[in-house]
Amino acid sequence: MPILTEHRSLANGVEIPVLGFGTWQIPDGDDAYDAVSAALEVGYRHIDTARAYGNEASVARAIADSGIARDDIFLTTKLPAEVKSYDGALKSFETTMDALGMDHVDLYLIHAPWPWNEQGADYRSGNAEAWRAMTEIQQSGRARAIGVSNFEVADLEALASSSDVIPQVNQIRFFVGNTQDAVTRYCRENGILVEAYSPLATGSILDDEDVQAIAGQYDRTVAQLCIRYALQKDTVPLPKTTNADRMRENADIDFEISGDDMATLDAIRDDKRD
Ligand code: A2P
Repeated sequence: MPILTEHRSLANGVEIPVLGFGTWQIPDGDDAYDAVSAALEVGYRHIDTARAYGNEASVARAIADSGIARDDIFLTTKLPAEVKSYDGALKSFETTMDALGMDHVDLYLIHAPWPWNEQGADYRSGNAEAWRAMTEIQQSGRARAIGVSNFEVADLEALASSSDVIPQVNQIRFFVGNTQDAVTRYCRENGILVEAYSPLATGSILDDEDVQAIAGQYDRTVAQLCIRYALQKDTVPLPKTTNADRMRENADIDFEISGDDMATLDAIRDDKRD
C-alpha cells in the first residue's frame, strides 16, 4: 500500500507520513497495545495519541516492542486542553515523556484552545504561555515539530500575534460535510499543515447514501472514499480502527477522485454531524 510510505514536509522541513493512525477512544492497556501493534504490522508509521486519551504508555510499549526503528515512526501526542500556563505545559510534557519512555516525540500539539468544559472561552493569554513552553521544547529537540489542535482562525491569529513561531500543524475534526473551509484556507495560506481527525465522522458517515453512491462508482468503500477525499483536500487523515482488516482497507486508497466528484462531495453539508 504505497500511501503508507508517502511523506509531506512540514514548514520546518520535518517529514510527516501522509496517512496516520488515530488512537482516540482506544482504551489503555491491551486494546491500545494490540491496535497500535497491528497498525505497525500493516505498515502504518504515523501514530497519533494524546495525554488525554490515557493510552500513551500502551502506545509507546507497542512501538518499542515492534522492532521498528524509532526514527522510522512518526509519533504525535498532545498537551491536555486544560493546561494553559508555561510551567504547567513544561510539567505536563515531562509526564508525557515519562509515560512514553522516549527521548523525543515527532509532533507535540496543544490539544484545544480552551479546556473542554469551557469551549469558546477566551484563553488567548493561556495559549500564548503554553505556546512559549512548546517553542522551548522544540528548541531543545525533544519535539521535532509543534502545533495546535481544534484551533479556529481567531485562535491562530491570536497565537501569531504572541509569537514568531507559527504552528507547523493544526489538527481538526474534518470529514465530508465538515470541511471547516475558513480555517483550512487560513492554514494553507500560512504554511500550516492540516491533519484530519475523525475523517469518517467517528463512523456516522458510513451509512450516508449520497457518499455510498459515489464510493460505489469507484468500487470502493465509504471509508476509503472519505479517507481519499481528506487526502485530496490536502489534509493528513488520521482514521481510527481497532480492526486489522479495516486498517488495511483504510490504507488501500491508491485511486483518484475526479474533480467533479470532489465538487459533489464538497457540496455536501451535513449539519447533523457537525
Ligand atoms: P472500529 O474501531 O470498530 O473499526 P473516525 O476515524 O472518523 O474516528 O471513525 C472511527 C470509527 O469508524 C470507529 O467506530 C471504527 O470502528 C470505524 N471504522 C474505521 N474504519 C472503518 C472501516 N474501514 N469500515 C467500517 N468502519 C470503520
